[in-house]
Amino acid sequence: VLKIFTTKQEISAYFTYKSGKTIGFVPTMGALHNGHISLIKQAQQNSTEVVCSIFVNPTQFNDPKDLEKYPRPIAADIAMLEQAGCDVLFNPQVNEMYVDNEKWHLDIGDMEHLLEGKFRPGHYQGVMQVVNKLFNIVKPDVAFFGQKDYQQFLVISKMVELLKMPVKMVMCPIQRESDGLAMSSRNVHLTADDRLHALILSKALNWVKDNFNTENIASLKLQAEQMVSSEPGIELEYFEIVDGNTLYPATASTKNIVALVAARAGKTRLIDNVLIN
Ligand code: PAJ
Repeated sequence: VLKIFTTKQEISAYFTYKSGKTIGFVPTMGALHNGHISLIKQAQQNSTEVVCSIFVNPTQFNDPKDLEKYPRPIAADIAMLEQAGCDVLFNPQVNEMYVDNEKWHLDIGDMEHLLEGKFRPGHYQGVMQVVNKLFNIVKPDVAFFGQKDYQQFLVISKMVELLKMPVKMVMCPIQRESDGLAMSSRNVHLTADDRLHALILSKALNWVKDNFNTENIASLKLQAEQMVSSEPGIELEYFEIVDGNTLYPATASTKNIVALVAARAGKTRLIDNVLIN
C-alpha cells in the first residue's frame, strides 16, 4: 500500500528505518497522467523503494493565473499511484516547504536564459529551489525526469553537478496521446478546437526530424516556424533546433541535436520536443 507523508520528519523517520534500500524519486506537481506513471515504472526497474512527490511549487510559476488554475485532483492522483504500485507519496503543504519571502539563486550560466528562460523569467530558479529542497528531504539515489521538459532536465543536472549532490539523473522518453500530442497536466485546459490545432506541434517536430540533414538547419527552422504560426488558434513562442547539451543553435557539426517548440493553443501554453540524432 501507498504510504502518504506530508512532513519532512515523517519522510526522514521512514527512510532511517528503511536504510539500505535504493531510493528512486519522481518529483511531480500532480494531475498525474501516463507520462508521470511511466517515470514511476522506470523508477521501479531501477530502485527498491519508489517515492513520488506531488507539490504545486509556487516559486516556479511566473504567471499567477497559471498557478491558480493548475489542476489539483489529489484523490485521483493517489488512486493512480496506488494502482502503479508506488511505495511513498510526499505531499507537503506550501508552509512545510517554504518560509515567507525565501530567497534562492544559483548561477548556472546561459542555459537559464535560453528557450523557456526567455519566456518564463525566474521559472528555472524556482524549479531548482524546490528540487534542491526535495532532494535534501527525500535523499534519492536516482531521480527520474521526463524528456518532455528537456531544458528542465539540463538545468537540474547542472544544479546537481554544481552542488555536488549525490543523485543520479535519469531522463525518460515523452509519452504521447495516440494522435501525437505530448501528455501534459495542462492538456485538460484545451478546448476541443485547441486540442485539434495543438497537433501541429508534434507534426512540425516530426517533420523536422524526417527531413533533417545538416545542410538545411536554418531553412528547416524557418519552415517549421511557418508551419506552426500558420495553424489557426496557435501562437508560436519559439521553434529552435539546438545542440542538446548547450541549447545553442545547432550547426552542421553538432552531434546531439534536439528540436524544441513552445506555443500557446488558445490560452494554454504547450511545449514539446524531439531528439534528432
Ligand atoms: P510536472 O510537470 O508534474 O512533471 C513531472 C515530471 O513528469 C517531469 O519530469 C516531466 O518532465 C515529466 N513528464 C511530464 N509530461 C510527460 C510526458 N508526456 N512524458 C514523459 N514525462 C513527462 O516538471 C515538473 O512537474 C516540476 O517542474 C517539478 C520538477 C516537479 C518541480 O516542481
